[in-house]
Amino acid sequence: MTNNTIKESQVNENEYDRKKELEEFDNTKLGVKGLIDSGITQIPRIFQHPPETLFDFQKAVRITGDAENIIPVIDMAGTHEEVVQKIRDAASTYGFFQVVNHGVEVSALDRLVGAIRAFFEQPDEEKIKYYNRDSVASGVGYFSNYDLFHSKAASWRDTLQVQLGPKSVDPNAIPNVCRAEVMEWEKEVKKLSARLLSILSEGLGLSADRLSPESYLARINMAGQYYPYCPEPDKTIGIASHSDHGTLTVLLQDDVGGLQVKYNGQWIDLKPVHGALVINVGDLIQMVSNDVYKSGEHRVYANPLPRSRISVPVFFNPAITSDKLYGPLPELVSPENPALYKQFTISDMNAKFLKKELKDKTMTSYFRL
Ligand code: OGA
Ligand code: NI
Repeated sequence: MTNNTIKESQVNENEYDRKKELEEFDNTKLGVKGLIDSGITQIPRIFQHPPETLFDFQKAVRITGDAENIIPVIDMAGTHEEVVQKIRDAASTYGFFQVVNHGVEVSALDRLVGAIRAFFEQPDEEKIKYYNRDSVASGVGYFSNYDLFHSKAASWRDTLQVQLGPKSVDPNAIPNVCRAEVMEWEKEVKKLSARLLSILSEGLGLSADRLSPESYLARINMAGQYYPYCPEPDKTIGIASHSDHGTLTVLLQDDVGGLQVKYNGQWIDLKPVHGALVINVGDLIQMVSNDVYKSGEHRVYANPLPRSRISVPVFFNPAITSDKLYGPLPELVSPENPALYKQFTISDMNAKFLKKELKDKTMTSYFRL
């Protein structure tokens, strides 16, 4: 054997092992939490990330102190003009902001976090019944790493996905431990997303209904994210750096922390604020606004704390159609401001999303002219 063939056979052997180990992990149907419950003190190698995606706190420049709070917390009870201005500024600078006085009872938010935690922490034999990677088709499913078989390294989190639109899921399909809370949240988050979309529309200097809920908010997915304690947080991540691909995301998080937003090449901690909701602009709105708004890149570090972290993002997207074209709005394009993206269909965009691993801002680079 030459040196080359030795290397090749080692690579193949590693790849073979990896696939087998991924399948073994998936077959446990107990996710990352199952690994922790089994008492492991080292993470399996399928979770080990290459150095470039790791969170090296020594090397990564982290903004600390006062600057930590630069991502604005916007009071939605302010005057309408003020709210439009602040949201416009935050969406075009960071692509991220938090809102308070958003009209949802803080106690309802606390109940939702508690109910999602209860789902993940119920007895294995109850939870395992919901394990299903293909939850888009069935409406409800629990799994670990939706891109488990596409990514180079797995991430330290489990997910409960519930489809809230275009058709609400049959309430009986939602796990009992969180059914009432999810249904309550569905009503509230739909109202809030419509309000945010109209504000974003006004922020572009357009009428409040130019970006319509029918065109932009039809497909809705809620993800209950569970980030268990990680015994080797310097070797893996909670969620890899990415931007959300759709219209916008409304995210509720508990007080553990771990979400970071990229700004000017630096990672900023998005500090949990009790009762606030985190809003971020997706790639679609960056493209439709012809780069006035930015889809913020974000990541979550692997949880080094003994307490599990819960977050509940709700992703809003247009319905999947193969005829309707999306792209920079004609009102925002002129000879001085040419279109930066080509026109595309949502079925194109979705097919691309499902094939790739969650990583970087690939969607905007894909459609950029
Ligand atoms: C996501 C995401 C962040 C978090 O699910 O797309 O970015 O805090 N989640 O869980
Ligand atoms: Ni995200």
